Amino acid sequence: MIVAIYPGSFDPITNGHLDIIDRARRIFDHLIVAVLQNPNKVPLFSAEERKRMIEEAVADFPNVEVEVFDGLLVHFARSRGCRVILRGLRAISDYEYETQIALTNRKMAPEIETVFLPTSTEYSYLNSTVVKEIARFGGCVRGLVPPGVERRLREKFSSVSR
Ligand code: PNS
Repeated sequence: MIVAIYPGSFDPITNGHLDIIDRARRIFDHLIVAVLQNPNKVPLFSAEERKRMIEEAVADFPNVEVEVFDGLLVHFARSRGCRVILRGLRAISDYEYETQIALTNRKMAPEIETVFLPTSTEYSYLNSTVVKEIARFGGCVRGLVPPGVERRLREKFSSVSR
């Protein structure tokens, strides 16, 4: 049984992330989407909000669960019996950063392999920062994020000053 972990900030989850999750759940027996609670960053959504939005988006995927973690990813992965860390690659420009993370993690936990999945071309330009920027200034994010995220972004930016 291969358990994979898909870590990230997911602030918020996009359809690009969801595409990776949907493809990975067909490859691995069990997939844990791990939401980073990062004390060095002030996210738009709390870790619990981010977790809830992902849970709604993956409700029909029986072998996918969502957890919040802090500290080192490899410690969390080990505690859940994960043998694979999954990351999506959008463009070649992601490769350098992702390789650095993968090699650092392998140094700390050689028994855990990092696997890269290329993002589908229709989402290769998409990231959470772009989505927040569009929503902040009143643009339409339909088709870029799951419907629950679209609604929460609207709520968030109608209640805070831009
Ligand atoms: O979505 P992101 O922000 O690109 O995800 C980055 C993430 C969560 C994969 C990375 O920051 C991470 O694993 N952080 C946890 C701390 C850690 O393990 N650091 C050592 C490897 S860089």
